[in-house]
Amino acid sequence: MNYQAEHQRSMADPAGFWREKASALPWFKAPENILAQDEHGIHRWFADGEMNTAYMALDYHVEQGRGAQTALIYDSPVTTTQRQYSYSELRDEVAQTAGMLAELGVTKGDRVIIYMPMIPEAVIAMLAVARLGAVHSVVFGGFAAPELAVRIEDAQPRVIMSASCGIEVQKVIEYKPLLDKAIELSSHQPESCIMLQRPQTAATLVAGRDYDWKTLLAQAAPADCVPVQGTDPLYILYTSGTTGKPKGVVRENGGHAVAMNYSMEAIYAIDAGEVFWAASDVGWVVGHSYIVYAPLIRGCTTLVFEGKPIMTPDAGAFWRVCADYKVKTLFTAPTAFRAIKKEDPDGTLLGQYDLSQLTHIFSAGERLDPPTQAWLTEQTGKPVIDHWWQTETGWGITANLLGIEPMPVKMGSSTVPTPGFNVQILNDAGEELGPNEQGYIALKLPLPPSCLTTVWGDLAKFKSGYLEAFPGYYASGDGGYIDEDGYVFVMGRVDDVINVAGHRLSTGEMEEVVGSHDWIAECAVIAADDALKGQIPLGLVVLKSGIDRTDAEVAQQLAQLIRARIGPIACYKDSYVVQRLPKTRSGKILRKSMRQMINGQEYAVPSTIDDPAIMTEIETVLRSRGVI
Ligand code: COA
Ligand code: AMP
Repeated sequence: MNYQAEHQRSMADPAGFWREKASALPWFKAPENILAQDEHGIHRWFADGEMNTAYMALDYHVEQGRGAQTALIYDSPVTTTQRQYSYSELRDEVAQTAGMLAELGVTKGDRVIIYMPMIPEAVIAMLAVARLGAVHSVVFGGFAAPELAVRIEDAQPRVIMSASCGIEVQKVIEYKPLLDKAIELSSHQPESCIMLQRPQTAATLVAGRDYDWKTLLAQAAPADCVPVQGTDPLYILYTSGTTGKPKGVVRENGGHAVAMNYSMEAIYAIDAGEVFWAASDVGWVVGHSYIVYAPLIRGCTTLVFEGKPIMTPDAGAFWRVCADYKVKTLFTAPTAFRAIKKEDPDGTLLGQYDLSQLTHIFSAGERLDPPTQAWLTEQTGKPVIDHWWQTETGWGITANLLGIEPMPVKMGSSTVPTPGFNVQILNDAGEELGPNEQGYIALKLPLPPSCLTTVWGDLAKFKSGYLEAFPGYYASGDGGYIDEDGYVFVMGRVDDVINVAGHRLSTGEMEEVVGSHDWIAECAVIAADDALKGQIPLGLVVLKSGIDRTDAEVAQQLAQLIRARIGPIACYKDSYVVQRLPKTRSGKILRKSMRQMINGQEYAVPSTIDDPAIMTEIETVLRSRGVI
């Protein structure tokens, strides 16, 4: 197949193109209304199709004779456990779990929050919610109680599903105190919580509200799949924006299933019966799409890995899993590869495993830096493919389309627009730019299936956050350029979003937390480049008059506060006390100039700066502390 022809067809006749792709799936009632604008002018896919995502992912395969095939492998070096579920076993577990939820009153459209570690029950919970036509919202385990509280308040779940603990290498992280605290902080109260008691620690249950997962499950009767419309929501996944409040990205059932299935064919060239491993966490979009939904809808075998790329027990962990389970495609974030490279630079551990079944390695979450890409290619001898993604889209916006026409890899580029995505580079005035010109990366409407159609409960935020900056386009928040061959280079965010070890966080939110500390008059949280994690946050703070504290004292206080309010994954450690922050005459803090300075780049100072001497003051402080 020819890439240009496929992409052009998706642009010229989106409805015809996606009707054909949708026909590959087992709908209860095939959609006739493929693409239409709703009363708010938002493009919606497959509105009149009837389906159930969990049916497509499980029951259908059992009906097609795949019941005995392995659907899910659980490999947990931190508990030395390995377990496998066939499609029949997984379908039965999911049906029983859906029955348990139904008995607690969960019906179509209700929300269920899932706050769980990387264990099979997290996947089972997601699919059980989908089976009932309800809406799940998975919250990553590394978030602190206030972050969970914000999500409970916004999604208003009827039920919360959780586990007694997660395991971080050797640390047991108790989830229940975090959950109890979050419920206490939230004005919305769930009717019930279902707790999976893990052997490492037992959670204390609140009488009348909390239930023991296993006891309840044993009493439940299996529930059938509930038909939903193509435009009914499957899940809400919260992601960081520029403000303190995360945005609830809404994913609809129909478009999501179609895009997931198509992506397995077009991007990953993987088929039913093959093993696909996304080494991520179900709390992130990559986990939703490529640990749970896409591999199962495609009839593949997926993997839930409860471990890290290093330390569990060493930097050979990923290669051991690939060899043990004959993984065909591995997908993870660049930070994981950088961690492996640091520990095993010569590939000694890698060389101990038989990777003959592994054909491709995919990377996303942040730009795959050319040195890491080159190292990984050389060590593994496999094609290493970067692709660009967002929570908002749920799948690759640009990729090297293995299933259509593989392209030569250009280091530093995430290759070409995926069919369905009209990628453009715009200037400040919203005009389309030519090859090699840097600008804002925008997607011309309509967006293809699976992309968000609103922010949960806040259509105005969806419009103002994504659609109003450049009318007729979706503003991605990323900047970059397209070269003369059509290869897209994504160079980084143009807003306050920061990417720490592949985790998307907001410096704006961190500033709100830092600014709430008693000692702090004013602050700026800046993304500093980091050799392992890509970026880490660093605070420049002005203390209130009368407060006399050292950098170390301030750093310790603020690191603790960010841990408690956002979570350990923010990796906030360093703070530096300065006398003043540089601002424009209208009072806007010059974060970009400071980011350039901290990262050793030439920094531009806008002519609108209020007092140019402040930049020199900051530079002096940072030099004296050895930051630059
Ligand atoms: N639950 C609770 N705490 C968690 C957590 C979770 N699910 N995940 C991370 N944390 C904690 C860690 O324990 C650590 O806490 P500490 O400061 O008390 O030690 C902190 O958050 C930072 O964790 P992490 O970013 O994982 O750093 P690390 O130094 O422990 O490990 C890497 C470094 C590179 C191995 C790790 O970041 C990694 O595996 N990254 C891959 C990320 C990824 O897959 N992203 C998905 C995008 S596709
Ligand atoms: P998330 O929503 O957590 O998936 O994060 C999305 C953001 O991560 C994007 O807006 C980019 O800034 C960044 N990102 C993800 N994948 C890539 C990639 N392959 N190249 C460059 N940036 C990426």
